Amino acid sequence: MEIIIRPDAAAASQLVARLVAKALRAQPALVLGLATGRTMEALYAILVRMHQKNEIDFSRCRTFNLDEYIGLAPGDPHSYRHYMEQHFFGKVHLTSDRTHLPDGSAEDLDAESERYESEIRDAGGIDLQLLGLGEAGHIGFNEPLSALRSRTRAKALTPTTRRQNAPLFGGHLSRVPKRAITMGVGTILDSKRCVLLVTGRAKAHMLAKAVEGPITSMITATALQLHPRCTVVVDEAAATRLRGRRYYRWIFDNEPEWQEFRSA
Ligand code: GLP
Repeated sequence: MEIIIRPDAAAASQLVARLVAKALRAQPALVLGLATGRTMEALYAILVRMHQKNEIDFSRCRTFNLDEYIGLAPGDPHSYRHYMEQHFFGKVHLTSDRTHLPDGSAEDLDAESERYESEIRDAGGIDLQLLGLGEAGHIGFNEPLSALRSRTRAKALTPTTRRQNAPLFGGHLSRVPKRAITMGVGTILDSKRCVLLVTGRAKAHMLAKAVEGPITSMITATALQLHPRCTVVVDEAAATRLRGRRYYRWIFDNEPEWQEFRSA
């Protein structure tokens, strides 16, 4: 795992956008794993601008989102499908045959979960998976006690997660679905590369537990410590509780791999 600390949220998002652009240039048919949430909005805005300036081409890539609420139709304005259309797919001309999310309105959720896993497998696996950090320390919707080898399945959401996402439902907690379909921790760990983007002081405590704490299914982001190629990009505000801050900065400032990313 590598941890990169940038001065603010804009610079952190910019760096992740550059990582995505570099991966796409090297592999135009990239299989890109996507996340939702407010942190990702800044990243998608940058990727859309890069697309408008012809700096990045998504036309051959395929995408798989981490999760979707259960009980919302794909057209529901609160569904993650709708979120993705609004913030990203519709703006970079990614047609629906190239974009995949679990179907939260499926009648048989076990069959839908298996179908999603086989779609990922048929695509050759995920090359680059983008991740955010939930307040309960989750990745995707892998809530506390999710098995670290779990696959895509239905999961009940914790009150913490539902409260965190209530602002996206007009502040009405009662409107936040109680369950979601999510890629499992094992599904995420199978991706060839993971990039976790975390910004803001509110996440500082959980970020420190996630990257420097012991691996536990109570905080599923800790499983990323097992991933052979995981890059964690954070801003100064989120980094305040990291014990190894000085070392992480030294690596970013000195490792040749990061040279091209130091400017901007
Ligand atoms: C939800 C999503 C996660 C996301 C998290 C963080 O729980 N399922 O994938 O990472 O929210 O959201 P935000 O960026 O809004 O803090």
